[in-house]
Amino acid sequence: MAKKRNVYECNECGHQSAKWLGMCPSCESWHTFEEVSPVPDEPAREHAVLGAGIGEDAPVPLSEVSVSSGERMASGIGELDRVLGGGFVGGSLNLLGGDPGIGKSTLMLQVAGARPELNILYVAGEESAGQIKQRAGRVGIHAGGLKITTATELDRVLTHVRNESPDLLVIDSIQTVYRSRLGSLPGSVQQIRECAALLQKLAKQQGVTTVMIGHMNKDGEIAGPKILEHMVDSVLRFEGDQTRVYRLLRGVKNRFGATGEVGVFEMAGQGLKEIANPSALFLPDEGVQESGSVVTCVMEGSRALLVEVQALVTTATYPVPQRTASGFDQKRLALLLAVLEKRAGVDLSGHDVYLNIAGGIRIQDPAADLAVVAAVVSSFRDIPVSGESVWLGEVGLGGEVRRVPQTEARMKEVSKLGFQVLFAPKSEGEVPDGLEYRQVSRISAALSGLQAT
Ligand code: TYD
Ligand code: MG
Repeated sequence: MAKKRNVYECNECGHQSAKWLGMCPSCESWHTFEEVSPVPDEPAREHAVLGAGIGEDAPVPLSEVSVSSGERMASGIGELDRVLGGGFVGGSLNLLGGDPGIGKSTLMLQVAGARPELNILYVAGEESAGQIKQRAGRVGIHAGGLKITTATELDRVLTHVRNESPDLLVIDSIQTVYRSRLGSLPGSVQQIRECAALLQKLAKQQGVTTVMIGHMNKDGEIAGPKILEHMVDSVLRFEGDQTRVYRLLRGVKNRFGATGEVGVFEMAGQGLKEIANPSALFLPDEGVQESGSVVTCVMEGSRALLVEVQALVTTATYPVPQRTASGFDQKRLALLLAVLEKRAGVDLSGHDVYLNIAGGIRIQDPAADLAVVAAVVSSFRDIPVSGESVWLGEVGLGGEVRRVPQTEARMKEVSKLGFQVLFAPKSEGEVPDGLEYRQVSRISAALSGLQAT
């Protein structure tokens, strides 16, 4: 009999090859090939572990498809429900990613505390049941319908699922579960893909609502094959700076609701605390006074957050000037500096530029562009920007300041927090009483406004 040969597989897209390749010919990523041993298909056994009868997947007319599994189940944690779009959809497979120690396990444990009537099966692959009990005591959960298993062999987990029929299955984490019939170690691409595929079938065929916790790799992606994110119904990402107490839960993908929604939490002594009104969370206690500090308003989902953009421009110490951004896209910063040079005559070629978004938050909203430009020029010329003002607008390559969506919602928040002046492009929205609207259409004009404040 011919010997079975190992194959190599891309851990991004799953492309297989008989020999190792440096670059994947399918998705063009580098150094993503791993050796895997081929496994025979065992559909009959799969059906057995899932407890499903053959024939359950027979074609059904649309009119006869039941939608009983589409109902939402609130997690009982308002900020989590906001990101999910009202709760977990029945029979959905969800992925919760985040850096170690960010609070993924704590959050799922707190669901058990918030909804004690739910029957939750928690697969603890990373901690012992005792450690989880200790943590539960810390966050104040004592009873309820939470059951913990330390089984990590997926076929055993599925047996427990059959016996317990939980309302919610939590896999902590997908990197620790494995199928023994595969030769590879838990956490390998092959194991993650197989286990996730089986859990997907379990969710879809048996309607078991599942949350898989996943690790992040050094690039900030959820570790494992990219197809993991394609297989699930929603991807939630827990973000935040370990050295700070605030955590943002971001909906990156959501088949049943809006993406981009964020939930805000604070890690306290008794677990994660929800922050329902985070708009002023990232502002300093006392107004902004130093040069290089400008306040802007970014939208995170449907919420307006006010954040402080800080820039420091100093004489370059090396022939190639430094451009460093934290909490902001480095390439976007380079682009804005180029626009400043070409369209406003601000030459920074002999200067280092450091940009920081205060409070450890990462912003992607282009509405912050104008504030970044203003902060850089404010530091460069050493002219402080009034702490009463907020700067808003996307900057185009021509040096024009463009309108941003949801201006009215932003203006409301700006006014509510007591700011008095808003620098922003023309907008149709109603300007709240007491807010002075300074319309800007070009960065050069906006920067002359900077001197006037
Ligand atoms: P954890 O949920 O274990 O993180 P993850 O599962 O994402 O790895 O969170 C652990 C961190 O949170 C740890 O650094 C301790 C801290 N923590 C608190 O500060 N307060 C608490 O009440 C709890 C339970 C944890
Ligand atoms: Mg954990």
